[in-house]
Amino acid sequence: MGDAVNPTLRFLHDGNIVEIDHAAPTRTVLQWLREDRMRCGTKEGCAEGDCGACMVVVASLNEEATTLDYRAINSCIQFLPTLHGKELITVENLSPAAGPLHPVQQALVDCHGSQCGFCTPGFVMTLFAMYKSGAPEARSDIDDALAGNLCRCTGYRPIIDAARRMVTLERPAGRHAQPHGAATSDEERSAIETLRALNDERSLHTESRKGTFAAPTDVDAFARLYAAEPHRRILAGGTDVGLWVTKDYRDIDDVLYIGNVEALRDIAVTDTVIDVGAAVTFTELMRVLLDDYPELTDLFRRWASPPIRNAATLGGNIANGSPIGDSMPALIALGTRVLLRHDHDTREIDLESLYIDYQVNDLQPGEFVKRIRIPRRRPDQLVASYKLSKRFDQDISAVCAAFSAQVEDGRTQHIRIAYGGVAGVPKRALATEAALIDKSFDEATVRAAMAVLDEDFSPLTDMRASADYRATATRNLLYRFFAEATGLGATDVYTYAR
Ligand SMILES: Cc1cc2nc3c(=O)[nH]c(=O)nc-3n(C[C@H](O)[C@H](O)[C@H](O)COP(=O)(O)OP(=O)(O)OC[C@H]3O[C@@H](n4cnc5c(N)ncnc54)[C@H](O)[C@@H]3O)c2cc1C
Ligand code: FES
Ligand code: FES
Repeated sequence: MGDAVNPTLRFLHDGNIVEIDHAAPTRTVLQWLREDRMRCGTKEGCAEGDCGACMVVVASLNEEATTLDYRAINSCIQFLPTLHGKELITVENLSPAAGPLHPVQQALVDCHGSQCGFCTPGFVMTLFAMYKSGAPEARSDIDDALAGNLCRCTGYRPIIDAARRMVTLERPAGRHAQPHGAATSDEERSAIETLRALNDERSLHTESRKGTFAAPTDVDAFARLYAAEPHRRILAGGTDVGLWVTKDYRDIDDVLYIGNVEALRDIAVTDTVIDVGAAVTFTELMRVLLDDYPELTDLFRRWASPPIRNAATLGGNIANGSPIGDSMPALIALGTRVLLRHDHDTREIDLESLYIDYQVNDLQPGEFVKRIRIPRRRPDQLVASYKLSKRFDQDISAVCAAFSAQVEDGRTQHIRIAYGGVAGVPKRALATEAALIDKSFDEATVRAAMAVLDEDFSPLTDMRASADYRATATRNLLYRFFAEATGLGATDVYTYAR
């Protein structure tokens, strides 16, 4: 690889450094916990990131390496070597076997938040991440935070009560019982020191009978290795790749992990662009993007669940290019460009031109998505995005639509429209845009443009929706954009309010 490599996977767990030589590239954290460590508090429900029974918390150093960030993630689809340099916290770590209980656990007991108990460790860990990161106050924030945990028997009200109660309880001694905002304890300081030592800048490169896991920290080393070994599978958050292993039983021999490449994990905001590194997670992206485009809040709130958003990257969503991926319609409508890199060479293209056909994109062997460049908001820009799915939380879109327009003196000066779920790729509605541009932004023009949408798309029927439904929804969402933009009467159907 050229740069110094480290063949041993190292992370912090139970207060000790775990060292694993020859770590297999796609063994999941959950498999390691339950099968290798006999730590069975963490459960397996769906093995695909939906139910939250497998929730663990990963603590990692913040950018300045001065404090720890605590993120709940789904251990069933997280590959073990991604823990390198981090701390793994499981339900067994929260309180000593002989008690007292952690405030999160005590609150669940007090509020009767558990019946059969199968989901409970997962809820405990999600609540623990909230406890350490700042407990949400509004009911809707608690609902959002729990969107990645399913319970079949208790019902959610007692669990939501526990989320409110946990911060009011007396806290026993112990690092994990210190809530968000408490002074850094000696134990936490010691964990920070240990993680600093583990993050020694060297790239991880494990080899095993099951394949290799390369995790460079330097972007040039990453680009060089991928150009030389384009058969490697890039791994980002693993929220697509993980399911290929746990559900499709695919063998992935040689993994190239992008998550440790420092230069791909930042967001640079200039006067004109929000420049996002490919390895930025959705949780991180939302903190910045929604400041410019608050109209996208509902879309991203319904983008998977918090633990998936804690792992999934924007680069992974864009590179995977699923026709039902939810960020692409909005980003295409905003005029996003992507910077691609192959070895030393880079090229920048419009996001929509990355997608050629169903599961075919313009990435060449050894080429990867380096950055995603989203234009800053223009004054008076009208923006909207709508996700239609059968369930509110954690569901796949039947149709996802996004609009960006500029109307001056009643005429449409700029319009970009993109849809997901209605073609083999995320796609711009070029004919429809042509029917609107430089025309009066009024009911008659918009209704005429709705008919033109049939030229842009010939939707399919599948288990999520019929072709008829999709065609109707595609047209009506354009009308909804017009109605809301002109104040004709905004509907609250998908507006999140409780
Ligand atoms: C429970 C669940 C809910 C979900 N909900 C949604 C949802 O609501 N909306 C939605 O759009 N998606 C959803 N997804 C799908 C998934 O989370 C996204 O597609 C996600 O953005 C993938 O990103 P990742 O970082 O996890 O990519 P990975 O799984 O690591 O990689 C995905 C693909 O991209 C490639 N890749 C990754 N990064 C790069 C790069 N920089 N350059 C080139 N290739 C790269 C990988 O090789 C792989 O082929 C969901 C998934 C799960 C499991
Ligand atoms: S086991 Fe269901 S989310 Fe992991
Ligand atoms: S308590 Fe039984 S599934 Fe939640």
